Amino acid sequence: MYISPKKLLSIILVQVQGLTIYRLIASLRGQVVEIREASDRDMVQVKNDLFRTRGKADYQYDPKVINIVAICREHVVGFGQLVNRLEGIGLYGGFWIHGLYVRPRYRRMGIGNMIASELIDRAQHQGAEEIHIQVEETNRPAVILYHELGFSDKHDSETKMFLDRIFEQTGKRYVFMSMPISDSIRSR
Ligand SMILES: CC(C)(COP(=O)(O)OP(=O)(O)OC[C@H]1O[C@@H](n2cnc3c(N)ncnc32)[C@H](O)[C@@H]1OP(=O)(O)O)[C@@H](O)C(=O)NCCC(=O)NCCS
Repeated sequence: MYISPKKLLSIILVQVQGLTIYRLIASLRGQVVEIREASDRDMVQVKNDLFRTRGKADYQYDPKVINIVAICREHVVGFGQLVNRLEGIGLYGGFWIHGLYVRPRYRRMGIGNMIASELIDRAQHQGAEEIHIQVEETNRPAVILYHELGFSDKHDSETKMFLDRIFEQTGKRYVFMSMPISDSIRSR
């Protein structure tokens, strides 16, 4: 099986990032990370540098969405969104975390956790009682991170039927996870 040099580097990076020594060196290098609500300028970086969607339409302000970025040395190294779908119905209603992403070389330093925690805090301040995410079942880093934050998988029959339908349409298995906000804030 052919593995491109880029893919090989990424496999090695993931292995190295799992080592305690990597995180120790990263913390000794003093990577100061700021978590903040994204400015218009930050969103340009998110689009052009983080997700490399240069050329696609610019982000349009949406009062139902809060964009959070992680900044290191004036560069966006991580991103996540809180989406308020209180007016939505069914499984996709309520507050959702979307688009959580950390630049590969900055992973395993706690940045994903910090962004998600900020999104949960923001949801609480908006009066949310529960928060949800949808994640691919095979996405181990994200599944572990969300479980650590206090999310648990939804197994009710409506969710199961819905996820089976998505699987039939896309060939991808997703899990829905939810967390009661008040409990999560207390336990952190
Ligand atoms: C998922 C993602 C955001 C995690 O970001 P991160 O900054 O590396 O996460 P953190 O450093 O905060 O990790 C917190 C915990 O999650 C778990 N975790 C994260 N990455 C892991 C990995 N590759 N393997 C095993 N556990 C992992 C660990 O328990 C970790 O704690 P530890 O480092 O003290 O052991 C990042 O891997 C990413 O951007 N992935 C691609 C995009 C994506 O899949 N987003 C999720 C969409 S739902």
